[in-house]
Amino acid sequence: MTSQRPDGWQPDQYARFRAEREQPFYDLLDLVEPAPGGRVVDLGCGTGVLTRVLHEQTRAAETVGVDRSESMLHQSAEHAGDGVRFQRGDIAEFSDSGLDVVFANASIQWVPDHAALLPRLAATLGPSGQLAVQMPANEDHPSHAVAREVATHSPHAEALGGFVYRHSIESPEWYAELFARLGFAEQDVRVQVYLHRLPGPEDVVEWVKGSLLTGYRDRMSPDDYEAFLADYRQRLLSQLSDERPFLYPFKRLLLWGRMG
Ligand SMILES: C[S@@+](CC[C@H](N)C(=O)[O-])C[C@H]1O[C@@H](n2cnc3c(N)ncnc32)[C@H](O)[C@@H]1O
Repeated sequence: MTSQRPDGWQPDQYARFRAEREQPFYDLLDLVEPAPGGRVVDLGCGTGVLTRVLHEQTRAAETVGVDRSESMLHQSAEHAGDGVRFQRGDIAEFSDSGLDVVFANASIQWVPDHAALLPRLAATLGPSGQLAVQMPANEDHPSHAVAREVATHSPHAEALGGFVYRHSIESPEWYAELFARLGFAEQDVRVQVYLHRLPGPEDVVEWVKGSLLTGYRDRMSPDDYEAFLADYRQRLLSQLSDERPFLYPFKRLLLWGRMG
């Protein structure tokens, strides 16, 4: 399914917690074996900063960063060259063949129907190709649960036309079985908890504004989104303890498989 939405990504907001957001990328990259002279694709590459790191670490001949956000890709030009290039595209429609590495860090949770998507991504790999995916799995934390709650209440439910955002993510066991069925000879599926120390609980709002809440922001007028955000902030802060620093545990799912 193609997901044509206005481009709500704000590179500056996303970059606010850059060091914390980058650690899972490096943990995923550690699972990937080098592919000297190979072809690599970075799906949902964002600004392209990490695509360059991926390219260098895999020692690929060519790495293509794909993203559907103009505003994210706008910054990618400075990371292009020496085998790295960027193109606009939707992961839901991505196709290729004989790839050595398909890498998707914090992106495919936005793409629905993983039962259809992952077989298509696996089919783009060559005989010893690797698929590496990292996704947030924090749906049960108040930061995510309160957003769903607010979305179902008036007037936000009307403004959203009944839409409630849920990441397209299945259980770790589901991915492990699917990888085996798709013919991955080797696999590594793990859940990792990243414990973020934020200055205070209000910074959780700043964190999700750069990621989860873009899924709501894209679907509302600026005024409706401001009203949604105010309710979200008020309900969330009433549920979080007023500790400083504030401990924000964040679960993530890391998936890696190699075909041969
Ligand atoms: C959380 S950012 C991650 C960016 C980068 N991978 C990183 O690790 O910093 C998610 C990116 O996925 C992109 N994205 C989300 N859904 C997409 C889709 N269906 N097709 C292409 N890109 C998509 C967004 O535009 C955004 O740049």
